[in-house]
Amino acid sequence: MSEWEPKIVAFLCNWCSYGSADLAGVSRLQYPHNIRAIRVPCSGRVNPKFILAALRQGADGIWVSGCHPGDCHYIEGNLYARRKFTLLKNLLDYTGMEPERLHFSWISSAEATKFAETARGVVDAVKTLGPARHFIKREAEVA
Ligand code: FES
Repeated sequence: MSEWEPKIVAFLCNWCSYGSADLAGVSRLQYPHNIRAIRVPCSGRVNPKFILAALRQGADGIWVSGCHPGDCHYIEGNLYARRKFTLLKNLLDYTGMEPERLHFSWISSAEATKFAETARGVVDAVKTLGPARHFIKREAEVA
């Protein structure tokens, strides 16, 4: 039987973190295959409902990554994202889900190495927690 591997849904800002993922690929940097990247126009566009939907549909961890403070193409989207994310993390903690399943980072399009290192860190952190089944009603739906 193969070892369990976590599914990580990564919401990556088009202008920075998605670019760093692309650069990591072009530079042939190794990072875990567990990352399912979803390109978003800005980290501020990530509605907490997207995160809850991903967890409900079988994601074991969530990673939101946007531009560095001051670099957001929509001025303050990343700062709003950080606030929303902090509140959601507290809410999930309140419901009994491990807050360590959620990760937030700022990675520019030139930081491919940081992208790969952060991806490894996210996967390792979620691996130690095991599968997330807190929001799943029917196990058969994610198998
Ligand atoms: Fe990248 Fe807003 S445009 S986080």
